[in-house]
Amino acid sequence: MVYMRRPLHGEMRVAVLLAAAIGIFLTAAVTTLRSSTQPEAAAPPAAESAPIDFSHETHVTMAGLDCQLCHAYARRGPLAGMPPLSRCAGCHRFVLPESPDVARLLARFDAGEPLAWARVHDLPDHVRFTHKRHVRAGIACGACHGDVGRMQLAEQTAPLTMNWCVGCHEARQAPIDCVTCHY
Ligand code: HEC
Ligand code: HEC
Ligand code: HEC
Ligand code: HEC
Ligand code: HEC
Repeated sequence: MVYMRRPLHGEMRVAVLLAAAIGIFLTAAVTTLRSSTQPEAAAPPAAESAPIDFSHETHVTMAGLDCQLCHAYARRGPLAGMPPLSRCAGCHRFVLPESPDVARLLARFDAGEPLAWARVHDLPDHVRFTHKRHVRAGIACGACHGDVGRMQLAEQTAPLTMNWCVGCHEARQAPIDCVTCHY
């Protein structure tokens, strides 16, 4: 089976209606057909980063899920971590399995297809950053990531410049010597 790499977004509603009418088992065929008939430029650029359909707003604001249910290492290590497809599938096996987007997700998981989300934030390699210390100091995710619960795919809202980091460190009496943040 061939699954769409490019996400549906603008055309998603059409795809959902089509798939609902024809049956979810034809979804792959329908999306393949659509992707070959749509001009490449029709998809918004941000959409390229989603291998399968995902919305933070749906999960955070509508479903009420905690950030750390999916970004499970934020309290424990340098990286917040990305949810493995098994986490999505574990919930969606029971929640909305009839949705065409979810069916595609489950099929992809069952086929063992790897999934990699495009990186949004990316500090240069010479910078040392850790989530653990910030999260444990009680700094909310939103202080650095903005109102993710209102976003579909995550977007970078803070500049992530040295001035930005140092500004907050000064304000909160956190260390500002060079080796704090540089290897
Ligand atoms: C703990 C449960 C849970 C987890 C984990 C979860 N979801 Fe969901 N998801 C939901 C709920 C609940 C909704 C419906 C929210 C609403 O519409 O109010 C939803 C909606 C969706 C939808 C929209 C379905 C439709 O047709 O409306 C998609 C697509 C989706 N999730 C994909 C994902 C992906 C991808 C992941 C993993 C990165 C994921 N979900 C992880 C609970 C979960
Ligand atoms: C003090 C600012 C700050 C706070 C607070 C913060 N982050 Fe981050 N986050 C960053 C920076 C900076 C990066 C980029 C790190 C890099 O490129 O090495 C990042 C990257 C990420 C990433 C992608 C890379 C990774 O770490 O897996 C995720 C996901 C993420 N943050 C989620 C969260 C969540 C969820 C919370 C709250 C529990 C949170 N962040 C709190 C600053 C912050
Ligand atoms: C149901 C799972 C789920 C929940 C809950 C969730 N996220 Fe995410 N998050 C994802 C997925 C999947 C991606 C990759 C797609 C994207 O970039 O939006 C992601 C991406 C991100 C990124 C960008 C990572 C990078 O590459 O730099 C940040 C930052 C982030 N999430 C923060 C948050 C914050 C803050 C919350 C809570 C308000 C939250 N997320 C809740 C699944 C989730
Ligand atoms: C919103 C405020 C805020 C921002 C923005 C922020 N920090 Fe911090 N940072 C803190 C606080 C407060 C601490 C001290 C936490 C503690 O007491 O454990 C800290 C601690 C740290 C530590 C651990 C210091 C140690 O003692 O080893 C590192 C490393 C760090 N920050 C790097 C960064 C980098 C790099 C950035 C920018 C990409 C950044 N921080 C942005 C508030 C911030
Ligand atoms: C609180 C964290 C933090 C501290 C403290 C810090 N830096 Fe940085 N620095 C960063 C971040 C994040 C970047 C990458 C973003 C940027 O270039 O603005 C950076 C970038 C740099 C760069 C590369 C700039 C470029 O144009 O590529 C140099 C050089 C540098 N820092 C030197 C220093 C020196 C010297 C000190 C001590 C006086 C210092 N930094 C202290 C966070 C920090």
